[in-house]
Amino acid sequence: MRCAARGGLLVLAAALLFVGGDAAAQARRLNVVCSVQIEWCELISRAYQNATGVRMAVIHRSSIDALSMLLAERQKPRTDVWFGGTGDPHLQAAEQGLTLEYRSPVFDDLQPWAQAQARRGAYRTVGLYTGVLGIAYSPEQLRRLGGPPPRCWRDLLQPRFERQVMMGNPTSSGTGYLILSALTQLFGEDAAIGYMKGLHRNIAQYSHGGRGSIENMVRGEVAVAIGFLHDAITARERGARLEFVLPCEGTPAEIGSLSLIAGAANPHEAVQFYEWALSPEAQLLARQASAFQWPSNRQVPVDPRMPPAEDLEKVIAYDHLRFGSSEVRKRLLTRWINEVNVPDNE
Ligand code: F6P
Repeated sequence: MRCAARGGLLVLAAALLFVGGDAAAQARRLNVVCSVQIEWCELISRAYQNATGVRMAVIHRSSIDALSMLLAERQKPRTDVWFGGTGDPHLQAAEQGLTLEYRSPVFDDLQPWAQAQARRGAYRTVGLYTGVLGIAYSPEQLRRLGGPPPRCWRDLLQPRFERQVMMGNPTSSGTGYLILSALTQLFGEDAAIGYMKGLHRNIAQYSHGGRGSIENMVRGEVAVAIGFLHDAITARERGARLEFVLPCEGTPAEIGSLSLIAGAANPHEAVQFYEWALSPEAQLLARQASAFQWPSNRQVPVDPRMPPAEDLEKVIAYDHLRFGSSEVRKRLLTRWINEVNVPDNE
């Protein structure tokens, strides 16, 4: 471990000693902001409380809302742990010192992509799961529109998809931001903004959270939704008829992340929960909540409903560092707000 990480651990150890003195006298509490599927958030809350007796308050927020909340409470944090959500805002939180440097004793049991996320964030975050972005469509709705299924990002610009596409709003949804940033990497920034302008004319609505796009498509509101493969698998497991493609130009994978909050009121409980969240037992719980992201602990077997790795050749080497920077985030979102999501462009 690097010296800086050791320094962070010493500070944490001192905090734990301090808290340890009167911990027995107080009810054990933990405040978690959770940016995965709400069913998974509820399940971890029940399972962890039953196993440990800790009183847990879990609130569900989209990834960008969670980051905004942590920024707003940075002087006096009310949150102890941030569980899940796309990796870019976790890196932005790390860059701004909102999260705590920590290296788990089980770090070596984690997948290389989960470890890489920790290194990028100076150990102020770590990979919890991964999932691949793509295009979901309803074969039934598509029949009504006519034409072949979409195969590429560019297909979504076709006039037949007018008001037939949904995606997360990049200013509130980590999924939405990942779409904007991945297209920036694939096409270049100006061309990506140009693409988003064209796509805007086909967007029926931007959902607040990323999963909402697939859920609304399944309800029959639109024919196409941009979202994650695992959220499409969940919808299929629940009986929805939909297909999912990895766009021909390439597509990114998120590194859903886990972070301890700097200056949290319950640092001891936070670390214990963090360790539990990285354990195989806790990660296996996701499937009981029909959450099909790939888990970061290597000891968790891959679910047979997930595609084998060789089917994922469209996944690009997404530039997590570039798009996890606050400056790039600000610039891309400012351009999206001023150039794409404007009345002139409807
Ligand atoms: O529904 C779960 C999920 O897709 C996670 O894999 C992802 O990290 C998160 O939602 C992103 O949510 P949002 O786009 O609402 O920030």
